[in-house]
Amino acid sequence: MEHEVTALPLRSAPPQLATRLRDVRSSPVRDILALTERPGVISFAGGLPAPELFDAPGLREAFAAALSGAGAGRSLQYSTTEGDPRLRAAIAARLTARGLPSEPGDVLVTSGSQQALTLVAAVLLEPGDRVLVEEPSYLAALQAFALAGAQPVPVPCDDEGIDVEAAAALAAEHRPKLLYTIPTFQNPTGRTLGIERRRALAALAERTGLWLVEDDPYGELRYRGEALPSIATLPGAEDRTLALSTLSKIAAPGLRIGWVRAPAELRSALVVAKQAADLHSSTVDQAAAARWLAAVDLDAHIAGLRAAYGARRDALVAGLAAALPPGSVHNRPDGGMFVWARLPSGWDAAALLERALERDVAFVPGYPFFAGAPDAATLRLSFTTHPPEQIAEGLARLASAWL
Ligand SMILES: Cc1ncc(COP(=O)(O)O)c(C=O)c1O
Repeated sequence: MEHEVTALPLRSAPPQLATRLRDVRSSPVRDILALTERPGVISFAGGLPAPELFDAPGLREAFAAALSGAGAGRSLQYSTTEGDPRLRAAIAARLTARGLPSEPGDVLVTSGSQQALTLVAAVLLEPGDRVLVEEPSYLAALQAFALAGAQPVPVPCDDEGIDVEAAAALAAEHRPKLLYTIPTFQNPTGRTLGIERRRALAALAERTGLWLVEDDPYGELRYRGEALPSIATLPGAEDRTLALSTLSKIAAPGLRIGWVRAPAELRSALVVAKQAADLHSSTVDQAAAARWLAAVDLDAHIAGLRAAYGARRDALVAGLAAALPPGSVHNRPDGGMFVWARLPSGWDAAALLERALERDVAFVPGYPFFAGAPDAATLRLSFTTHPPEQIAEGLARLASAWL
């Protein structure tokens, strides 16, 4: 029998995308990063850990062990949504050692902490809900909230992070469901919320019924000063905080291993949301991560990162004032990956970036990180990717971009 040949319909109209995508902007930071990947560019743009500091030999052994012997079948099989029991135990032990008492059952392993943000948004946010966010904030978190149809409400910040009184006033006005904060070495500003403000935020959550999302990818990367308590440990916030973190900055982002430590009443909803998203995170990656955490001296590994990144932060901070136009200001974060700077009023960081790229040096203009009116004079510089000599060379190029 002959088949009838039907003509395929011509593709004329663009596809009707779901409404929830309407307000989700593509990340200009990703577009900028594409420009900065040219060979020869010294980039302060991406928040990339230094690849030479990855424990590649240790991870190679961990993967080999995960794929050897009787465990190999388990490492390659479907598994539970909550995550590899040994990995959950290792994460809970680390959180406990860092002052956030945790049981393995408190922790849901996610595909990077980015997925934890998506799951939290899926579980808590209705379209039209308001979310209080630091101004400026981590762009991909804003995207995750936007994808859930939520509206960000920017909260003013200063050098010590979020202004809690302003947050309280905005909470009264907008009745938000949750407040998203990166209290330690924030992305993009490198700022750290002081202890008094942490307490005030915890009290605000208790008073208003807000959920707090405490995102902490950078807390282990401290180069000066003492660690501050997680907001999740503070009175009023214990059962209202979703604490997120990741192996991305202390092991390797390619592992895509993150987690959320959630209050009991949200755990099963998060598990259902994760089942719908991906059933579970990669079993072999989780098994290897668990083996790596069991074998490595994590404190010594992180001490190595701190020493290297601390020297890189010093190199950037020492030369930055001379590399930016007179009248610019910048901070000197005690940890993390980023320095935040502001050009003199009237300057546009995006225009400076164009001239910088002509001289093979790059940074990220600050404007994409703002949920409200952007400050065009701001910029973010990451200091982790290059060693100090290259940082100095990059700063010399940056100076020549505006001189
Ligand atoms: C504040 C913040 N949260 C979450 C993430 C996501 O990290 P990952 O998904 O690699 O764990 C990042 C990555 O840069 C970040 O800066």
